[in-house]
Amino acid sequence: MNTTPAEETDPPSRKEVWKMFDRIAHRYDVLNRSLSFGRDVAWRKRLRKHLPTDRDLLLVDLATGTADQILFLLDGPANIAEAKGYDLSEEMLSIGREKIAKKGLGEIVSLHTGDAMKSPQPDGTADVITISFGIRNVEDVPTALADMRRTLKPGGKLLILECSLPENRFMRKAYLLYFRHILPKLGGMVSGDSHAYNYLNKTVETFPCGEAFCQLMRDADFAEVKAEPMTFGVATLYIGTKPEDAA
Ligand SMILES: C[S@@+](CC[C@H](N)C(=O)[O-])C[C@H]1O[C@@H](n2cnc3c(N)ncnc32)[C@H](O)[C@@H]1O
Repeated sequence: MNTTPAEETDPPSRKEVWKMFDRIAHRYDVLNRSLSFGRDVAWRKRLRKHLPTDRDLLLVDLATGTADQILFLLDGPANIAEAKGYDLSEEMLSIGREKIAKKGLGEIVSLHTGDAMKSPQPDGTADVITISFGIRNVEDVPTALADMRRTLKPGGKLLILECSLPENRFMRKAYLLYFRHILPKLGGMVSGDSHAYNYLNKTVETFPCGEAFCQLMRDADFAEVKAEPMTFGVATLYIGTKPEDAA
């Protein structure tokens, strides 16, 4: 029987992981696009389709990084009146601010230092919260989900985009081969930080996905929870709503 060394399956420490993003910020966008073979663009656009249709939305994007998700959302239906992004990595935020300024979106988008487990966003104010490839990095997922519920308006929507593993046995095997052996090397070469891309594969392999993650959302009192796997299940969009009658 094949055994996996403990260090390959143990969940990695997420404490102060934002420091790692500070180090790779300058190469983050290019790595993201190339290591996902450009698929992240389609995944981000899919999230856009689930935005509420009401006018004048306040969008909050947690673990916003270089603000890619906000920019893709603003490229869609024009019902976002204001977008606020929060992250702990100042380097990622500063690249995000440059991108926003270049697109002339400074009037409606602002980026701030903020922890996804205790965001500075006041209670019951957001129409929609997004978090793309970020929830996997927080230290305590139930705490983060509870905080998202706190800051959403009743009836507000939570859209979580995250890496996941294909359910199909053969796809999973092929994907893990790429993920364990090729991606960390490519990511390490381009970013100059091999630790960062070893971290990536370990967090994805140990993070709950599909129904297990939906259950975490239900446990945090989100309603109408569903998961939409994309690209053979290598990424999943999770959707939930804060109940209208929530306190
Ligand atoms: C993989 S990047 C995703 C960035 C962006 N959302 C995107 O879609 O490209 C993960 C981000 O999570 C941030 N992060 C990690 N832990 C965090 C926390 N507790 N609160 C806020 N941001 C956090 C990191 O600094 C990093 O920018």
